[in-house]
Amino acid sequence: RRPTRVQHLAQMKADGEKWSMLTCYDYSTARIFDAAEIPVLLVGDSAANVVLGYDTTIPITVDELIPLIRAVVRGAPHALVVADLPFGSYEAGPQQALESAIKVFKETGAHAVKLEGGERVADQIAALTAAGIPVMAHIGFTPQSVNGLGGYRVQGRGDAGDQLVADAIAVQEAGAFAVVMEMVPADLAGQITRKLTIPTVGIGAGNETDAQVLVWQDMAGFTHGKTAKFVKRFADIGSELRSAAEQYADEVRRGTFPAPEHSY
Ligand code: KIV
Ligand code: NA
Repeated sequence: RRPTRVQHLAQMKADGEKWSMLTCYDYSTARIFDAAEIPVLLVGDSAANVVLGYDTTIPITVDELIPLIRAVVRGAPHALVVADLPFGSYEAGPQQALESAIKVFKETGAHAVKLEGGERVADQIAALTAAGIPVMAHIGFTPQSVNGLGGYRVQGRGDAGDQLVADAIAVQEAGAFAVVMEMVPADLAGQITRKLTIPTVGIGAGNETDAQVLVWQDMAGFTHGKTAKFVKRFADIGSELRSAAEQYADEVRRGTFPAPEHSY
């Protein structure tokens, strides 16, 4: 099996072949998703939420993400590994974006970085691309800007649609190899997908994007509480794991584990 590289994603768009991306934050899970032939793994700053337990993605740093990225690279020899640039690591300008992305590339073996924003980060995308660092853009609802956007809500409705189209074109022209669109009306995401030559990756953006992405804990039922409308639960890993833990504790309590076959 050949490893996935950014050129293959461009080819899949040309061939009309849809592909999937999942987030991933550790070695064991990376092994499983690589075996499942998920072509692209994102070490998202959503690690802030699902790994570290923060309410938003704002607190996580490059230094906190680096060991997670390294673990995913080690566990997924075939996947294209995309590393999120977290809040505070690129907003100051192209120089800061370069310093952050170069650190990530030097220390992890990731194949691409992702950052949030459209027109406003075009200079950063151009500088990274010129340095040989493939960039995935992320527009629509951008969680690092949750305070400015006033909450978790659909973007690009009505007149705001023109800005979303402008953002999509701006990131393509700046050199992004793909663009995530989060919480965008399906029709608009479809229009943008047809307009762009680079692949679009939807999350809450309907069925007409070139690719889809979900946070793995959401899609596998490893999160608690209410999930967004765009999440489909493909498994209930959380209940499975809880029941395994309860059974283990119960067998230890009753003295039935370990049995002779588990003993030396
Ligand atoms: O950090 C993340 O998980 C993401 C995806 C949801 C696109 O940015
Ligand atoms: Na992210």
